[in-house]
Amino acid sequence: MSRPKILLSRAIAPEVVAHLAQHFEVQSNPQDVQWTRAELIARLQGQDGLLDTGTQRIDADLLAACPQLKIVANLSVGFNNFDVPAMVAAGVQGTNAPDVLTETTADFGFALLMATARRICESEHYLRAGKWQSWSHDLFAGAEVHGTTLGILGMGRIGQAIARRGAHGFGMKVIYHNRSQLTPELEAECKARYVDKQELLRSADHLVLVLPYTAQSHHAVGAAELALMKPTATLINIARGGIVDDAALARALRARTIAAAGLDVFEGEPSLHPDLLEVPNVVLTPHIASATGPTRRAMAQLAADNLQAFFAGEGALTPVNT
Ligand code: DGY
Repeated sequence: MSRPKILLSRAIAPEVVAHLAQHFEVQSNPQDVQWTRAELIARLQGQDGLLDTGTQRIDADLLAACPQLKIVANLSVGFNNFDVPAMVAAGVQGTNAPDVLTETTADFGFALLMATARRICESEHYLRAGKWQSWSHDLFAGAEVHGTTLGILGMGRIGQAIARRGAHGFGMKVIYHNRSQLTPELEAECKARYVDKQELLRSADHLVLVLPYTAQSHHAVGAAELALMKPTATLINIARGGIVDDAALARALRARTIAAAGLDVFEGEPSLHPDLLEVPNVVLTPHIASATGPTRRAMAQLAADNLQAFFAGEGALTPVNT
């Protein structure tokens, strides 16, 4: 019996490719280029499954053009690249890669918070540019982190992991807003208090965004929300770009109506709003919150395990549309 055919849209850990090759006919992308949609559709002809990094839009048009496709396994926890109703209508399984990246992503969220509050990147650029003349009292004086109020918008697994770091590691007062309130047990474990969105924006010294990107969360932080924040506050986005109105954020940073921002994700990435490159009080990183070797391997392995379980008839391990 012929083995199912799997397309890998980007290069992934070689040991996971080798594992997949034991079960599937694998077509990979050795140059690791981001294919255009037309290139992807052309390469998907005759393929039974796709392992994607969560960047290719899977919608009705693509599914109609690839009738043999049965499953798309995302190597990411986010699955905003899926048009879920279109996939359900076409009978195509979608899977994501949750849990294995939670702690690593929370570590990075905290690293970005620290770098932003303590102006680490700005001060490093200054030093590399040869501008440092002497120790001085207010040189790159930043914002306090320990003992301040940590606000979290979106309180899923990653939000909770950030809350635990803030409360237990840095003695922060944690407040959060989410579609639903956590159980009293989880709130106690995270030492987190549920507040409405307005109070979250008004009270947070450091606000971390960890919510999924949906039509409802598009521009959840725009000009009106930024205007509610403290002028000393920092905003950290490790969720998805479209959640923040980047043009409004660049204006707020330039006018210093908030103190600083740390952004790992951008509207329309890998392009950035040009104004964000002009303001000094923002730390910019290229969507790397889950990027450690072990975590990326675990994400790839989970995507591979989803493909294997699905084609073995056991059902996907982490389905998103069934
Ligand atoms: C995720 O898993 O969603 C990360 O943002 C990487 O894409």
